[in-house]
Amino acid sequence: MGAYSDEYQRSMADPEGFWLDAASAVHWFKKPTQALDDTNPPFYRWYPGAQTNICYNALDRHVIEGRADQTALIYDSPVTEGRCSYSYAELLDLVGRAAGVLKALGVGKGDRVVVYLPMIPEAVITMLACARIGAVHSVVFGGFAPAELAARIDDARPKVVVTASCGVERTRVIPYKPMVDEAIERAEHKPDRVLLVQRPQLQAETGERDIDWATAMKPGAVEPAGCETVAATDPLYVLYTSGTTGKPKGIVRDHGGYQVALQWSMTNVYGMEPGDVWFTASDVGWVVGHSYIVYGPLIAGCTTIVFEGKPVGTPDASTFWRVIAEYSVKALFTAPTAFRAIKKEDPDAALMAGHDLSSFRTLFMAGERLDPDTWQWATDKLRVPVVDNWWQTETGWPIASNQMGLEQLPIKPGSAAVPTPGYDVQILDSMGEQVPPGTEGAVCIKLPLPPGTLPTLWQDDARYESSYLSAYPGYYLTGDGGYIDDDGYLFVLGRTDDVLNVAGHRLSTGGIEAALAGHPAVAECAVIGVADPLKGQVPRALVVLKAGDKWANLDDAGLAQLRTELGQRVREEVGAIATLQQVDVVAALPKTRSGKILRKTMRQMADGQDAQVPSTIEDPSVLDALAKSLGRQGTSQG
Ligand code: COA
Ligand code: AMP
Repeated sequence: MGAYSDEYQRSMADPEGFWLDAASAVHWFKKPTQALDDTNPPFYRWYPGAQTNICYNALDRHVIEGRADQTALIYDSPVTEGRCSYSYAELLDLVGRAAGVLKALGVGKGDRVVVYLPMIPEAVITMLACARIGAVHSVVFGGFAPAELAARIDDARPKVVVTASCGVERTRVIPYKPMVDEAIERAEHKPDRVLLVQRPQLQAETGERDIDWATAMKPGAVEPAGCETVAATDPLYVLYTSGTTGKPKGIVRDHGGYQVALQWSMTNVYGMEPGDVWFTASDVGWVVGHSYIVYGPLIAGCTTIVFEGKPVGTPDASTFWRVIAEYSVKALFTAPTAFRAIKKEDPDAALMAGHDLSSFRTLFMAGERLDPDTWQWATDKLRVPVVDNWWQTETGWPIASNQMGLEQLPIKPGSAAVPTPGYDVQILDSMGEQVPPGTEGAVCIKLPLPPGTLPTLWQDDARYESSYLSAYPGYYLTGDGGYIDDDGYLFVLGRTDDVLNVAGHRLSTGGIEAALAGHPAVAECAVIGVADPLKGQVPRALVVLKAGDKWANLDDAGLAQLRTELGQRVREEVGAIATLQQVDVVAALPKTRSGKILRKTMRQMADGQDAQVPSTIEDPSVLDALAKSLGRQGTSQG
């Protein structure tokens, strides 16, 4: 048996021994004597009774153990031409001061801090500062609009919001502070303070609630804070992710299990060693950013790169190659859409010339399915293993991957390879029975989930159970469909629910529909994710207009104006990342007799697939009428 198979079998046969051993790779204030607490199924906790602090493992431990002068963080910003780096000792100093600032603002253990920051070092510093004092951070991606931010503020109820005056995108400077002010205005919960990083690209106006970051952080102005001792099971963060309804789900992550899982994955999945340079091109607003820009690489004693730019256009498709060469990057982690964008701009990878990529060993991809074409292109051009890994905000680290640090298995394009130790991945049919190899079904994970995964949803155990655990008792429902082949390789084919994946970003159909429904012309609407060659999927809307002369008799110009207004509403209510690709005005939406809109059927029609029509459809003629606008391959009654 190979190393992967040995480790996987051991994690299944003896999870207690496996995860206690893994726990010895990180520091504890009180060591765990027990791995799994299964006294309250289906709620499982890891390392009960143990005490720790993830910030200690990310920073203090390395400074104490001789890495004080090693570079911990490199900030590279092609959009502002800013660059700087911090050693572990310097980062610890800044984090200690930021933790002191938060403490002075009244933030204590268990209090929440909402972070709405662009990709600047202060984002990482703030997250670690929260962890340091046992506060719970909730980072909201800067591309979300005030309404989405307000919903998260109301759910997390933070004492403090940390933000910046602006974000800098490819083509424009985006004022962040007015969005925070508007979100607080909209929210029922009012945070006490807003801690504001003023950036030179745009200064924000301030009010009574605002505290200037630079002033508060001046050496001597604040007493640096030490690491609070927290329980392994204490919450570290809440990260909101999109479900099918408009209300985001607050994924909870703890200190203890998460740090063990991240340390284990940096070594065994990613094959990284202390001192290696690691580059994740994502955003701290997503789980990939939490796990593999901030916590994972720092816990593992690597150098992490905070990159404020895009794969293309900042300034061109060579930017990743420049970063790899300039900082001797060993591994890059990004979303397939980023490589599709590079391939589109520079199909022959001519811009790679002149960049010394000799340090580069592996390309990791996640966030959406890695399509075989993109895999082939990246493999041909980079001549290193291109490794797909499949996971979700909920799990916090890969469910399936080629475990590069343990043993590289053959790569099968289109597959995220094999289940990671700790994850008992099974494909179930609608009756909850395991299907034979090669047969598609619901991708599920047998409980308990391993350390690092969500223990519940923020203050909503009932929704955790109903969303993930009730479909198949004893199993966690991932929401993805797929199959396992004869060699045990997992092929994830896409969501089985109505969640969208746009450029590796997860968006809710319900949230976009709610924005559209707020327009006075809209009687009813449905949003589906349709295939897109660059972004994987893009949202497309079908709207039914209200009866009456005003909306029924719109001419072409009126319809064009309506489409613009609807697109604008989505940008304003959800955010710029949810760009509507197309709006179709239709006479009616197809529904089941119980009123459920047949989004999946419409999606299949729009993607040119053989559409499955449930036998419970209320009026089949509605689908026939839609065929012209959606395009239809054929439908089969099920
Ligand atoms: N703050 C504010 N606005 C943001 C933002 C942020 N952090 N990120 C994106 N936006 C805005 C952009 O400015 C853009 O606005 P515009 O329509 O007014 O120009 C809009 O959201 C869409 O941006 P984006 O999704 O980046 O699309 P794009 O067409 O500009 O770029 C790609 C296409 C493929 C280059 C880009 O989507 C990309 O880099 N994808 C990688 C995704 C990724 O890393 N995912 C993480 C999961 S692991
Ligand atoms: P998020 O929680 O935003 O990371 O999105 C998770 C979802 O993205 C998963 O449920 C999948 O639908 C999709 N996804 C992420 N990584 C992959 C992958 N490697 N292969 C296929 N789908 C993926």
